[in-house]
Amino acid sequence: MKFYITTPIYYVNDIPHIGHSYTTIAADIMARWKKLNGFDVFFLTGTDEHGAKIAAAAKEKGKTPQELVDETSAQFKEAWKLLNISYDRFIRTTDADHISATQNIIDILFQKGLIFKKTYEALYCVGCERFYPEKDLIDGLCPFHKTKPVLQSEENYFFKLSSFSDALHDMITNPAHKEHIEIQPEERRNEIIGKLKLGLEDVSFSRAAIDWGIPVPFDKKQTVYVWVDALTNYITGIGYPKDEQLFKKYWPADVHLMAKDILWFHSVIWPAMLLGAGIPVPKKVYSHGFFTINGEKMSKSLGNVISPQELVDKFGVDAARYLTVTLIAFGPDGDISWDALTNKYNVDLANNLGNLISRALKLAEKNFDLKVPNVKPDLELAEKTAKILNEDFAPAMDGLYLHKAAEALQRALTEINRRIEFDAPWKLAKTDLQKLSSCIFSYLQATDLILIHLLAFMPALAEKIWTITGASGNISETAKKYFADKTIPQNGFSPSGAQLQSPGVLFPRIQNGGK
Ligand code: MSP
Repeated sequence: MKFYITTPIYYVNDIPHIGHSYTTIAADIMARWKKLNGFDVFFLTGTDEHGAKIAAAAKEKGKTPQELVDETSAQFKEAWKLLNISYDRFIRTTDADHISATQNIIDILFQKGLIFKKTYEALYCVGCERFYPEKDLIDGLCPFHKTKPVLQSEENYFFKLSSFSDALHDMITNPAHKEHIEIQPEERRNEIIGKLKLGLEDVSFSRAAIDWGIPVPFDKKQTVYVWVDALTNYITGIGYPKDEQLFKKYWPADVHLMAKDILWFHSVIWPAMLLGAGIPVPKKVYSHGFFTINGEKMSKSLGNVISPQELVDKFGVDAARYLTVTLIAFGPDGDISWDALTNKYNVDLANNLGNLISRALKLAEKNFDLKVPNVKPDLELAEKTAKILNEDFAPAMDGLYLHKAAEALQRALTEINRRIEFDAPWKLAKTDLQKLSSCIFSYLQATDLILIHLLAFMPALAEKIWTITGASGNISETAKKYFADKTIPQNGFSPSGAQLQSPGVLFPRIQNGGK
């Protein structure tokens, strides 16, 4: 089974921040989770490099557009390396194969009579790179950028979007449709359906006044509208049209992931383009919420932008990944702050996870020479942990509710820590070494199970702790096997006699306040 997941390709007028990281880490976690569950995964991300917005940003910085896009796309690549993002391709819309493939798709739409020329005058928001009808503005301002759109008048090539309203409505609302498009979450889906019911207007697919773009193949004086260029990345990134084998293997996309700001393009314009060109539509479009920082929109002028580097400096890579995607519910809008991130770090990682590991390991160090005690394997606690994770973690992951999956993990950790309190193993050292052995053995197996589930969130740390707890074999291979048969090995993951390591301080507590 295959699984193809995408992030938006990010505009290179801005440097990578926690907003981009949020979507990209979430997609990475999903990609890793699906791989561990036996899927053949393709994960695509990249940068959106054409259009008026990029051209203007380059001019402002005294650079050529090419210089700006080269520099900033390299910064995105760096950021994803820092955050341990396991993409299969980083696509740039200035890549040669993407340029020719975009020309191919617009040409097909033209050949099919779905593109026509018309003079048009309307209000354009450069921030969104789109025209707005008056009715969609709030007090005359763009609903996302709160800026005044500018009146533009041009002779452009238009796409007959209006002829797709009914077909799209049917595909989105009818789950039995053979090309059903699932839109998550529910409220956003309803918004899209509501708009489709009102009917769609044709949309301009080219620009006469913008040079920084892909030339329209049938009229080289115009460039392809940046959103058409951008959306097409989802098929060009997997080889369309030249590498038929790769394309057939992964298309249609299983999930296009993004925030609500660009859901319209992904759930209406993109499927209509594909329908027009005779290409299957994506299976799922998932829009997570938009978050603010301390109640305010993230912006350079407010100086509240959080960068991936700052996150990693404060929490380390793995904790930064975990905290970024689990701090707010995945779906609705939310608010993020350094203090909230720090609190979650201290509660979930320093206390719940860190304490469990250090308690189990210290007991083994003191009493069993840092070896897994020799006992008849007791897997009762691990089985109990498995039950919580099977029932609550796995379904949450599959439904892309990452915060719920993290909650399930924390619940399982709390249960194990409670068991330790109940057993009071530190007292057993003097009274019942046999029972102590059994306790430590069972804490280690339950911890290993937690690590297997944490692996997609915290790949490097989970692997490191896997060795500390004396677990045998490679953690990814063991996780794959476990997810395939959901069976804990008879002798546990960390077998009796295995060498443990002193964990040191894995999650030092962090003080609140400041970055
Ligand atoms: N280039 C277009 C996308 C083209 S996709 C074919 C674009 N780029 S963007 O750089 O503006 O990225 C927007 C996306 O970044 C959002 O949809 C979301 O995935 C992510 N986010 C940016 N800021 C965010 C928040 N404050 N909160 C949540 N997600 C955020 O639009």
